[in-house]
Amino acid sequence: MNEETQARRAGIPDLPRLISLAAICAGAPQWSQAVWQEVIESSEDSGARVVLVVERRDEIVGFGIASLSADDAEIESVAVDPALRRQGIGRLLCEEMLDWARASGAVQALLEVRVSNGAARALYESLGFDVRRVRKGYYQQPVEDAIVMSLRLPI
Ligand SMILES: CC(C)(COP(=O)(O)OP(=O)(O)OC[C@H]1O[C@@H](n2cnc3c(N)ncnc32)[C@H](O)[C@@H]1OP(=O)(O)O)[C@@H](O)C(=O)NCCC(=O)NCCS
Repeated sequence: MNEETQARRAGIPDLPRLISLAAICAGAPQWSQAVWQEVIESSEDSGARVVLVVERRDEIVGFGIASLSADDAEIESVAVDPALRRQGIGRLLCEEMLDWARASGAVQALLEVRVSNGAARALYESLGFDVRRVRKGYYQQPVEDAIVMSLRLPI
């Protein structure tokens, strides 16, 4: 990976570039601008959520969203520009989200992923996540089962 690649917290000025990136990433949330704004504002206003971005040459090329509920952290989303995949950006975003979760007192990280999403499943497995169970018909458009994965976070 390019040594200069770093993740940072997203802010409202990142909204247009975040929405554009999500639009070209199948599997990423396709939220309205209002919802994206709410998500970023909630990450700025409370310690219960983080939105991270990776930027290269003024473009946002990856983002990750995680939240806290009691002592569980949830990886809500991670997405990388299709042209820049397999360069470690997804792993960097996940590692930074897990660091944030640990620093925020979470004892485990949880996530759901589509059964058919081999790339994301491989990424999470490479980080040490284990399969916990299957949620039947959890996703819509298309309807598909979710795999629930978890990772113990060492204190
Ligand atoms: C999943 C996703 C974020 C991975 O991002 P990435 O930057 O390509 O991932 P990385 O380069 O950090 O990969 C880290 C490891 O994950 C695994 N991995 C990632 N993509 C993989 C693929 N297509 N096939 C097999 N393994 C893969 C590998 O173990 C890889 O390590 P390696 O390259 O040294 O073998 C990216 O494919 C993506 O944006 N997908 C669309 C959005 C999505 O589905 N997000 C998840 C649900 S919200």
